[in-house]
Amino acid sequence: MSTTNNIQRLNDLKAQSRLGGGAERIEAQHKKGRLTARERIDLLLDKGSFREVDAFVKHRTHDFNLDEQKYMSDSVVTGWGTIEGRLVYVFSQDFTVFGGSLGEVHAEKICKIMDMAMKNGAPVIGLNDSGGARIQEGVVALGGYADIFLRNTMASGVIPQISAIMGPCAGGAVYSPALTDFIFMTRNTSYMFVTGPDVVKAVTHEEVSFEDLGGASVHSEKSGVCHVAADSEADTLFLIRKLLGYLPQNNMEDAPFVPGDDPLRMDEALNSIVPDDANKPYDIKDAIRLIVDNGQFFEIHENYAQNIVVGFARLGGHSVGIVANQPAVLAGVLDIDASEKGARFVRFCDSFNIPIITFEDVPGFLPGTFQEHHGIIRSGAKLLYAYCEATVPKLTVITRKAYGGAYCVMSSKHIRSDLNLAWPTAEIAVMGPDGAVNIIFRKELEKAVDPIRRKAELVAEYREKFASPYVAAERGYIDDVIEPKETRPRLINALEMLSNKRDSNPAKKHGNIPL
Ligand code: HXC
Repeated sequence: MSTTNNIQRLNDLKAQSRLGGGAERIEAQHKKGRLTARERIDLLLDKGSFREVDAFVKHRTHDFNLDEQKYMSDSVVTGWGTIEGRLVYVFSQDFTVFGGSLGEVHAEKICKIMDMAMKNGAPVIGLNDSGGARIQEGVVALGGYADIFLRNTMASGVIPQISAIMGPCAGGAVYSPALTDFIFMTRNTSYMFVTGPDVVKAVTHEEVSFEDLGGASVHSEKSGVCHVAADSEADTLFLIRKLLGYLPQNNMEDAPFVPGDDPLRMDEALNSIVPDDANKPYDIKDAIRLIVDNGQFFEIHENYAQNIVVGFARLGGHSVGIVANQPAVLAGVLDIDASEKGARFVRFCDSFNIPIITFEDVPGFLPGTFQEHHGIIRSGAKLLYAYCEATVPKLTVITRKAYGGAYCVMSSKHIRSDLNLAWPTAEIAVMGPDGAVNIIFRKELEKAVDPIRRKAELVAEYREKFASPYVAAERGYIDDVIEPKETRPRLINALEMLSNKRDSNPAKKHGNIPL
């Protein structure tokens, strides 16, 4: 064959590979409001940076006449490219080929780029659009998923792993994402379930729509499986690019330095953000935006367990993870979902050298039978464990309430927080004045001539003694009491002071976090 013919053949094969399941199926994909695997990669990566591998791979199965349907690339596109000039590895499942289902070679392709990502210390991004294990390939497909699950687990805490759910994903196509650090979903066109509505109906006789079983709303608001929900595929991919800007390439590196606005900036508005009435809500996100660089806050789990707020921002150009009680929702109480949300975020930051800034205004753990019966003890312990274990720089700002066990949990000095600041509005005590007086002065109040007046006096006395930051500051449990407007410069200064921090945990195989 002449050189011209050879090159023609190469180009033909590549063109064939790029067509995936064919023009008709691509059109069907577009009609459902979805992009193809390759179109998604083009939007995700820096223009022209994608380098594909394994475009010639075909499956090796003969059962169920599969040998009559072979597609180049099989049902996944893999390779690497850059985001803002930084290396990332990508796999993008192709729904136009066997519904993106995963068989032997599909798994091999993903494992190949995951192994490369681990060797070269760069994030892996998976764009999932798959019916899970390819039914016709049987145990070989299951084994392929298990090979990926093992790699997801080995890569956890070494390189960031990001998953986007871009279509109807089932089985292994949701369990592999569940092992990764962050799951993104697209509203109205992406779904996650162990198995789809048809199988649900056959097994449990329950009739449920795709959306109600596993749509983006369900997973970003109720189950918490999804960390970020976006309105379109383009938005989903754009937000992944944005998130990566806050993360290091791997656990041996620091996140990129991005200069922000004036590190000495002080916002007067912070001094009046906490209402005089201790039971009045305010939005902690307003405070966060006034403190961080350029007011930019990338929230994780925005619509799930909103009584705690977590996300990434920068202070003095350095990436930080923010964990904040939210007085505007359920008074910022810690319940099961909030504890788990916070714990997972703290552990992510600790794995990847991202300092943790905690804003505390918490009345305690949520009491009641529902919480107790569903394990608030275990869930609360997860958050406590995560904070205790974390060795990255930890800074805490108590804005108002730090009551009870929640005082200990929310990055207190006792569990190795490096700098604990309080605003003058801080109240640090075993519980709020009302509850405390009811318990410790019950007998006295029963006997009082005017119990209402006596109670008001006792509450005022208790408030004077305990509902301030000064008892804790007297003992050094609080390093300083500051004007709220000073928070930004003080946190930036502390991060600089801690830039060489070294701390470690005792040598062990691994701890036993109360899962
Ligand atoms: C082989 C599959 C497939 C699969 C879909 N297809 N899933 N082929 N193996 N797992 C094929 C369909 O036959 C169809 O082919 C094409 O992909 C598109 O599928 P549709 O059903 O037409 O699409 P849609 O109506 O959008 O529904 C998508 C779906 C549904 C919700 C994903 O296909 C579905 O429920 N699939 C099975 C999901 C599932 O139970 N997977 C679990 C696998 S077990 P044609 O040629 O007709 O267009 C697993 C275990 C891993 O993953 C381990 C976990 C721990």
